[in-house]
Amino acid sequence: MRAVSSLMMKVFLTRRLPQEAATLLSQAEVCDVSLWDSDEPVPRAELLKGVKGAHGIVCLLSDKIDVEVLDAAGPNLKVISTLSVGFDHMAMDEIKKRGIRVGYTPDVLTDATAELTVALLLATARRLPEGVEQVKNGGWSSWKPLWLCGYGLSGSTVGVIGLGRIGLGIARRLKGFGVKRLLYSGRTAKPHAAEVDGEFVTLDTLVAESDFVVVSCSLTPATQGMCDKAFFSKMKKTAIFVNSSRGSVVNQEDLYQALSSGQIAAAGLDVTTPEPLPTDHPLLTLKNCVVLPHIGSATYSTRGVMAELCARNLLGGLQGTDMPSELTS
Ligand code: NDP
Ligand code: DGY
Repeated sequence: MRAVSSLMMKVFLTRRLPQEAATLLSQAEVCDVSLWDSDEPVPRAELLKGVKGAHGIVCLLSDKIDVEVLDAAGPNLKVISTLSVGFDHMAMDEIKKRGIRVGYTPDVLTDATAELTVALLLATARRLPEGVEQVKNGGWSSWKPLWLCGYGLSGSTVGVIGLGRIGLGIARRLKGFGVKRLLYSGRTAKPHAAEVDGEFVTLDTLVAESDFVVVSCSLTPATQGMCDKAFFSKMKKTAIFVNSSRGSVVNQEDLYQALSSGQIAAAGLDVTTPEPLPTDHPLLTLKNCVVLPHIGSATYSTRGVMAELCARNLLGGLQGTDMPSELTS
């Protein structure tokens, strides 16, 4: 751990961040930053040590910010700024109770994540990883009429679970592929759904009628484990399941059963439980399961803008001024 000492406010960063964040923080001259100077997650004991007395914490989605961390930080803590739009890793009720402000990074990663989700959907439906593998291992003997056939989007029905910022970004892009019906589910109907001719339906209807089921909701107690045996059993046998929200929305044992028994055609996952997914995990033995290492927002420019927003949120919280993206609900 690298540390600097002075009388300025103390900030703990749980990871090396893109340069944009470091530049802003040093220019502001309001805080001393200590960071876990690594690209790998901070060990829990180091996290608890590092936050001690901090006025601000910058964290990642892989850092569990719970009561123990808040207690370890102590009463100085004014702000937590996460380099993510998802905030399921933070004990929000407790954070609110303590009057600690929270910054996050909505909007700036919407396009990158929507693009990646579409890429994953196409890769899964059109069996791209299998095709690449066949080219490399000599399995490509000739052009064959029924070899490596998959499913196309044109004329299909797509169901988006959670038509929020990213869900809408996915829907907009998919409409360009000639999707016939766009269904969505969630807690409330969305006025912006009109832009994609979205039909607000129950989860059951969405699951039963969609050729592609795309999960882009936030992880909450209500969505935890939502995609389970009953869910997969309602899907069409030819349907593709894609998840770019959080791994815990899916019961992975049930997904494995659905994929290996032919209950559904294929699945594409950008998120899993745990992360990283162990290399001997059963899902990785399946040809009809494409797993990516949580890279939805991973473009150079997006990560730079996220880092900048994250730093600005932190500074606003430290200085008691506006935060560009404060989590208020
Ligand atoms: P938004 O808040 O804009 O959207 C979240 C959506 O989830 C809302 O439309 C909400 O609908 C919906 N939702 C909440 N509860 C339920 C429910 N019970 N059933 C169905 N839908 C529900 O967030 P974003 O679109 O910006 O981000 C969504 C999530 O994507 C993040 O929380 C994060 O977990 C994940 N993410 C993953 C990334 C990756 O790298 N793979 C990158 C960025 C984000 P309603 O308003 O009706 O409740
Ligand atoms: C988020 O922001 O919640 C993603 O999972 C990573 O960008």
